[in-house]
Amino acid sequence: MELTLPSLETQFKSWKGCPLSEKANPVFGEGAEAASIMFVGEAPGEQEDKTGRPFVGAAGKFLDELLTSINLKREDVYITNVVKYRPPENREPTDLEKEQCMPWLKLQISLIKPRVIVPLGRHALGHFLSKTTISNAHGKPHKLTDGVTVFPIYHPAAALHNGGLRQALYDDFKALGEFLKGLE
Ligand code: URA
Repeated sequence: MELTLPSLETQFKSWKGCPLSEKANPVFGEGAEAASIMFVGEAPGEQEDKTGRPFVGAAGKFLDELLTSINLKREDVYITNVVKYRPPENREPTDLEKEQCMPWLKLQISLIKPRVIVPLGRHALGHFLSKTTISNAHGKPHKLTDGVTVFPIYHPAAALHNGGLRQALYDDFKALGEFLKGLE
């Protein structure tokens, strides 16, 4: 059987390779199957766990606003997370949990084939650019050798705790919008 994004999601839903799946619901990701831009967050929170959809809680509302600020809609892009299950009490995912879930993200990337990957926050950034920090790398393009560009941005939830980051996120999205225009 040919591997497609929907068939991958079906396989994923019966996967038990990460112990977080014993107590949480699977949140695979959603959006355009051939999106040229893919957003990768950290892990689902409470609302995401309840609905099975990524970025639908408070951080997701802010992400929607940021997308709107550069004339993008959720349906135009693909949104997912490194870790596909909510960690208990929203604690940070462990390195092991990230490793366990990573094959799904890699398969999603290989099927969607985005031109630009936007890691949101340091957990997602670490997978793509492990030798830098989010404060150094955010808001600018980093070309990967395979022709894909990584454009890291702070995690939208960080701005909910630290109001000073709100403007940095808007500025980074503006820079992302300009970069995307240059690709057209
Ligand atoms: N934070 C994330 O990293 N991902 C979500 O899906 C929601 C909140």
